[in-house]
Amino acid sequence: MTAPSAAELLAARPHLAGHAFDGLLLEDVPLAGIAQSFGTPTYVYGAGTIRARCRRLRDAMPCVAVHYAIKALDHLAILSLIANEGLGADVVSGGELLRARRAGFEPRKIVFSGVGKTGAELRQAIEADIGQINVESAEEFWEIAALAESLGRTARVAFRVNPDVDAGTHEKITTGRATDKFGILAEEIFALYAQAAKAPFIDVRGLAVHIGSQIFSTEPFDAAYAKIAGLVRDLRGAGLTVPAVDCGGGLGVAYRDEAEMLPEAWAGVIAKNFAGLDVSRAVEPGRWLVAPAGLLLARVIRTKRAGGGRPVVVLDAAMNDLVRPAMYDSWHGIIPVGPADLVRAPEFADIVGPVCESSDVFARNRMLAPLAPGALVAILDAGAYGAVMSSTYNARPRAAAVLVDRGRAALITSRQQPADLFEGEKMP
Ligand code: LLP
Repeated sequence: MTAPSAAELLAARPHLAGHAFDGLLLEDVPLAGIAQSFGTPTYVYGAGTIRARCRRLRDAMPCVAVHYAIKALDHLAILSLIANEGLGADVVSGGELLRARRAGFEPRKIVFSGVGKTGAELRQAIEADIGQINVESAEEFWEIAALAESLGRTARVAFRVNPDVDAGTHEKITTGRATDKFGILAEEIFALYAQAAKAPFIDVRGLAVHIGSQIFSTEPFDAAYAKIAGLVRDLRGAGLTVPAVDCGGGLGVAYRDEAEMLPEAWAGVIAKNFAGLDVSRAVEPGRWLVAPAGLLLARVIRTKRAGGGRPVVVLDAAMNDLVRPAMYDSWHGIIPVGPADLVRAPEFADIVGPVCESSDVFARNRMLAPLAPGALVAILDAGAYGAVMSSTYNARPRAAAVLVDRGRAALITSRQQPADLFEGEKMP
């Protein structure tokens, strides 16, 4: 299977274009100019693309509340843009809750998921009067019930069901099997739900499910939602109220040339399974909304030859900036930025970062125009789980981030400086 060429990658990404003089453009802004103004490595995001994806998803499922899973990309500038599109937020830590509120999400549109919320985080959520806490164990529920009572505040909760469904995605990002740590097994939900319905200071909102990420097929969603719908019927049959279901995230994006599952298909499985149930519905997608809208702009430090004379291109970006290839063997398109490089005949090369780990490789045996030191490249579809998973390994400062909006580029996170890294350290 041959990998898509630069021209094919561009054709599938309307927010990117190659210009004969200015080289690669993101939403009409030359990336070379961004590299000149802000340096490299730099994450660059397209505001228009994120807005368009928010609207596309909302239009595909007008009767479903969309809570953006902010773990995918959480710059305040980007969160505020998404909040302005009317979406809510799905958060998984006190830090994310703080960010979401700071960016302007209404507390009632915030859902708090996660298997290990601390007492302090739960208290923060109850005091903020957020829309819903997705409870992942009986132990967590009783802690919430006690906290809410001691605070004299009502906590709105939903129970995250572990539906024992395999999402058929990468092992490291599947969450809905009985062997995974997430959620509560369906057979245990019933008794807990009935007890919760009687607890003071608790408003039981319903059920939640999330089976994994980067999913391309309706089947696992269908299997999971069928289980949830069955549970809703059973609970109601026992006289319990189930006002809402949270259908999780997981919609995949094509990094290479995978056949995407469309948002309409996702909307379809939700509609089919909950038809006639009169239950309000929500989803919590992260990746789909932001992955294609971001890229990692990097400069070639040096080129060298490795075993067998294979060309190796060493970038100034590394696995500490974008860990997905090292962590999940994920494929990201890489496109040269310079106008001449964009059209030059490609050759096979390894594209690597400078970190002292053999896994610090963005692409092996990739067809790419021969690049000289100083040339720029864009690592595509890095909007989700890129910057948020970056580290300072090898004492490498975190990259800058720039948002392109209506033809203008603005710095939204400044580049960390090397000395910033030992701020807060002590030598007693
Ligand atoms: N809801 C919950 C409870 C989640 O755990 C996640 C993602 C989402 C929603 C959003 O899923 P999405 O729509 O983005 O697929 N770092 C990995 C992905 C980890 C996903 C973690 N949970 C990667 O780079 O592929």
